[in-house]
Amino acid sequence: MNSLSPQALVQKSQEAKNFAYCPYSSFRVGAAVLTSDESVFTGCNVENACYNLGVCAERMAITKAVSEGHKTFKAIAIASDLDDQFISPCGACRQVMREFGLQWDVYMSKADGTYDKTTVEELLPCSFGPDDLRARKSSPTNDK
Ligand code: THU
Repeated sequence: MNSLSPQALVQKSQEAKNFAYCPYSSFRVGAAVLTSDESVFTGCNVENACYNLGVCAERMAITKAVSEGHKTFKAIAIASDLDDQFISPCGACRQVMREFGLQWDVYMSKADGTYDKTTVEELLPCSFGPDDLRARKSSPTNDK
């Protein structure tokens, strides 16, 4: 099976950006995540009058995918309205991407659809992840 092209995934992230709910920042973001079985889940940022409850586009897309049984990802594309910069995912979104592996692709795009390709591992080196919770550790003590 031919994999969806990066350009097509970026296009889907741009379409998702049109649904951004961002009355406070006016900063529209869209994301599209490609699963191992070639499904695509999209997300946009959804802000809230209680500012800290806002959700980023990337986490929205990943959460939608996981909630429908998809946990293995090939790539995620991110779109914004920035003309001169590739949109870079925030630290929280990098950590959520990392939860589902380090070796998958991240396409950070500009408004014109051009993109820069990187990986989750490059975006979040020396990260903490699920394996760390399973690593050998000394017994906890409750000494006061
Ligand atoms: N935002 C995203 O959705 N993804 C990013 O990669 C960067 C920032 C959102 C959060 C907030 O709604 C708005 O952009 C401004 O920070």
